[in-house]
Parts: sequence; structure tokens; C-alpha cells
Amino acid sequence: MGCSVPSLLLHLFSLIMFLVFNPPCVCGNVEDDELKSLLDLKAALDPDNTYLSSWTMNGNPCGGGSFEGVACNDQGQVANISLQGKGLSGKLSSSIAGLKHLTGLYLHYNSLSGDIPKEIANLTQLSDLYLNVNHLSGEIPSEIGKMENLQVLQLCYNQLTGSIPTQLGDLKKLSVLALQSNQLTGAIPASLGDLGMLMRLDLSSNQLFGSIPSRLADVTSLQVLDVHNNTLSGNVPPGNNDLLMVILICWCC
Ligand SMILES: *[C@@H]1O[C@H](CO)[C@@H](O)[C@H](O)[C@H]1NC(C)=O
Ligand SMILES: *[C@@H]1O[C@H](CO)[C@@H](O)[C@H](O)[C@H]1NC(C)=O
Ligand SMILES: *[C@@H]1O[C@H](CO)[C@@H](O)[C@H](O)[C@H]1NC(C)=O
Repeated sequence: MGCSVPSLLLHLFSLIMFLVFNPPCVCGNVEDDELKSLLDLKAALDPDNTYLSSWTMNGNPCGGGSFEGVACNDQGQVANISLQGKGLSGKLSSSIAGLKHLTGLYLHYNSLSGDIPKEIANLTQLSDLYLNVNHLSGEIPSEIGKMENLQVLQLCYNQLTGSIPTQLGDLKKLSVLALQSNQLTGAIPASLGDLGMLMRLDLSSNQLFGSIPSRLADVTSLQVLDVHNNTLSGNVPPGNNDLLMVILICWCC
């Protein structure tokens, strides 16, 4: 089988063009699956590609701020996403679960709607989750109870419904739980009394009913407990907590 010179040149040319348009690696050291997760996330968060146009298929998320709001750790893994107040009006997609090394997710003060995907619970490194002041609806996924490193959970000022999952009592490192100004119903789970590092608990302006679990008053780290503007009944339980300085309770408003 002969291979003439022009045909050889043609093959060489094709190879060069292939390499030009498909460079073997312009991806820096970010893991390819993380890039894919970011692009899937962007498509949902910013469907019109208005605010996250710097997140591109050929870009490098860990290339020193080239992906707006994305910060990576020393291993070239996506560690933080900070997009608070960016006018995002889409949804939080389950592809967030692909960013396994994420420690901080800051999406507050946007106009995100839809549910909180239960897959978010796969982010077991996550310590800060800020989804407050959006239009999120649906229930708080009980799976969040598996996020063992969570320290701050800010879900306030959304339209969340259903009851507070008892599994939140499994978040042993949680110091702030802010669920105020949603449409949460049901009783305050007694399991929140297991949150041994909890400093601030705000459940105000929901539709919670029943009594305040007495175990809450024994959380010695708790400094602020705000339950005003619910339909709670009974007395503030006496506890062993000298630090608990502010208890705001309004039975009727
Ligand atoms: C992620 O955010 C946290 C909290 O602001 C900060 O301490 C940490 O250094 C950030 N990590 C990276 C890799 O930027
Ligand atoms: C979440 O984690 C489980 C178990 O580690 C895994 O089987 C599943 O595929 C993960 N889900 C996503 C969306 O990454
Ligand atoms: C009480 O909570 C409801 C939502 O449950 C809210 O609409 C209202 O503004 C709150 N009122 C006060 C006084 O905080």
C-alpha cells in the first residue's frame, strides 16, 4: 500500500490541526470531572450566561481567579465558591455533588429558586453553607444530617416548607443554624439538643408549633436562641446554660 508524499503531508497537516484545536492539556491541574461539575452547575445557576461568563470549557478554574468566585486549594481542587449577591436567578443543581473537596459554598443574596438538591449531602468536607436570602422552596433534605464537617448552615429568608429534619441533630460541629423566615412547620426537634457546639439558633418567623424542647436549654455553648414569631406554647425550659443570653419569645405576634 503506497503512501504518496502529498497524502503523507495531508496526514501530517491533519495531525497538526488536530493538536492545535485539541491541545493535549490546557486544563491546568484541576480535575476534569470538577470542571464538568462546575460547567453543569453554571448552566443551572446562570441559565442566561449573564454573570458567570468567565466559567468556560477551555478555562482553568484554578488559574488564579479566572473563574469568578472559584478558589482552589493547593492540590488544585475546587475549595470555595463565593458568588453572593451576583444576581443569579437559576437553580442549584445536583452536580454540586461532584465538587467533593468543597469547603465553602456562598450563594446567599441571589434569586435562586427550586429545591435544595439532596445530593449536596455528598459534600462531606463542606463547613460553610450559605444559601440564605434566595427563593428556595421545598423541604430541607434530611440527608444534610450526613455533612459531618458542617459548621454554619444558613438557609434563612427562603420559602422552605416541611418540618426541620431531626437528622440535623447529627451535625456535631455545627455552630450556627439559621432557618428564620421560611415556612417551616411542625415541632422543634429535640435532637437539636445534641448539637454540642451550637452557638446561635434562629428559628424565628416560621410556623413552628409545640413546646421548646428542654434539651435545648442544656446546650452549654448556645448563646442566642431566637424563636419569636412562631406558634409555640409552654414555658422556656430551665437549663444549665449560663451563657444563654438572649431568648426572644413572642407567643402571639
Ligand atoms: C475558603 O474559604 C475559607 C473561609 O472564608 C477560607 O478560610 C479558606 O482559606 C478558603 N480556601 C481557599 C482555598 O481559598
Ligand atoms: C454520593 O455519594 C454516594 C456514596 O458515596 C455515591 O454512590 C453517589 O454516586 C454520590 N452522588 C453524587 C451525585 O455524586
Ligand atoms: C412573622 O412571620 C411571618 C412568616 O411566617 C412573616 O411574614 C412576618 O413578617 C413575621 N412577622 C414579624 C413581626 O416578624
